[in-house]
Amino acid sequence: MMEHDMGDQRKKRKQPAGKWKFLSGVFFTPATVFVLSLLSVGMLLWFDRINERQRMNFDLCDALMDIQIKATSYHLWLEEAITGDTAVDIRKVWDEIDLAISLSEAILNGGKSEHGVILQPLKDSSLRKRMEDLKPLLTQIKKIGLQRIREPEVAGIGSAIDQRFDAVFKEFQDKAGALEMITEKSQLRDQSRSKRLFWVILLSWVSIVVGATAGLWGGEVKRRRAEEALAKVKDQLEIKVKDRTGELGKVNDQLHLELNEHRKTEEELRNSEKQLRSLSSQLLTAQERERRRIAAELHDELGSSLALLRIEFALLEKKLNEDQTELRERCRRNLEYIEQVADNVSRLSRNLSPYLLEDLGLPSALRSLLSNFGKHLNVRVTHDIPEMDHLFSEDAEITIYRIIQESLTNIGKHAQARHVSMVIHIDDDSVCFTVEDDGKGYKVEQALNKDPDERGMGLSTMSERVRILGGSFDLWSQEGQGSRISFRLPKKDGGMFS
Ligand SMILES: Nc1ncnc2c1ncn2[C@@H]1O[C@H](COP(=O)(O)OP(=O)(O)O)[C@@H](O)[C@H]1O
Ligand SMILES: [Mg+2]
Repeated sequence: MMEHDMGDQRKKRKQPAGKWKFLSGVFFTPATVFVLSLLSVGMLLWFDRINERQRMNFDLCDALMDIQIKATSYHLWLEEAITGDTAVDIRKVWDEIDLAISLSEAILNGGKSEHGVILQPLKDSSLRKRMEDLKPLLTQIKKIGLQRIREPEVAGIGSAIDQRFDAVFKEFQDKAGALEMITEKSQLRDQSRSKRLFWVILLSWVSIVVGATAGLWGGEVKRRRAEEALAKVKDQLEIKVKDRTGELGKVNDQLHLELNEHRKTEEELRNSEKQLRSLSSQLLTAQERERRRIAAELHDELGSSLALLRIEFALLEKKLNEDQTELRERCRRNLEYIEQVADNVSRLSRNLSPYLLEDLGLPSALRSLLSNFGKHLNVRVTHDIPEMDHLFSEDAEITIYRIIQESLTNIGKHAQARHVSMVIHIDDDSVCFTVEDDGKGYKVEQALNKDPDERGMGLSTMSERVRILGGSFDLWSQEGQGSRISFRLPKKDGGMFS
């Protein structure tokens, strides 16, 4: 509750007072200050014009007064001259009236005043009209004066000419006086006007200065507030960045730890994979050696025993009499049986150890394997096997032979194929082997993912053998569309046999 009140107070303090807000927000906008400036410039020009007019009116008054003085002097001196005053210089009399006429001319059309002031041609039409009425009166006064001087006997004081002279002079005085009064009045009006204008201009300038100051002040205050807010946000940001950097540092350390652990595990995995590979390689080598040993045993022991047995039975048969037909028949059947067993033993030993490989080389051994397979299972076999001298090491050749042997065994066991083809393609640095059949096919994924207890090891042993030799292995098959095994091996190197 307390905190709430304090917050309100703070808010109130920060709010500018109502009037001030109105002045700074509504009145002293840049637009109003600009308009005010324009207005004050206009008023200044107006002020100047009024002053100019005042000055002109002043000059006009001055000139009018001079004209009146000159005309009055002329009148006085002329009367004195006519009454016979010899002290009067008659030329001065004419100079006075001429000066008055030329002054009135200067007032109308511009020229110099009595005191050397330059007079502008009179522009105000009503004043001009009055002045134009005044000027002929002066000429008339001069003309009557001339007449009076020329004919003093008829133009004396109280004569008809004198009366006319006085009448014209009076008219001149009245009109000049009226003109002077009008001019003076206008001057007075202008004076008070210019005074008012001066104050208005002063006021508007004060407003402009106040407005501009208020604008600048307001801007400054806003800028300061924005700066403060920015500094605050910056501080907060810095704190956040610091926190985040700390967190990131921790995460980074954790990541480093995990990475090291991961690397260690990877290293261990690689080592155990290496061991596994070497183990399986050793296993396959041992298996191969064992097969050879059994094959040799079969060939040497069982083969020779069977050969001995065959000789024994042949001798026995010869020794039997012609009438011992039943025994002879038995001997013959046993001989046939021994022959069959010997055949089987020799095939078994051939399968166990591909001695043809050692004798004739890989291409011939493969061709023989394929033709035996075809004959045995009554399947059409086609092949394209190029010569491959010295492309692979001896152990690699045995592995290749075993892989193809297993793929043919699979075809014989599972495919029910009618046609089998084998193609070997030699590239620049590797050789590609492909065995294809047109049998019933199978689901590769399923065959590979079968439970290890259920499935045979043929496919995985094949791929393992290829992997040991550093090659790539590929299986393709679809149900009802046959199957294809292809593998690519690097020439003479790669793998553990090389
Ligand atoms: N050429 C083939 N045609 C049809 N099925 C095959 C062929 N080769 C392999 N298979 C299938 O793949 C399975 C796995 O083969 P393999 O690993 O050699 O084990 P095994 O031959 O001992 O069953 C076989 O059981 C068979 O279902
Ligand atoms: Mg198999």
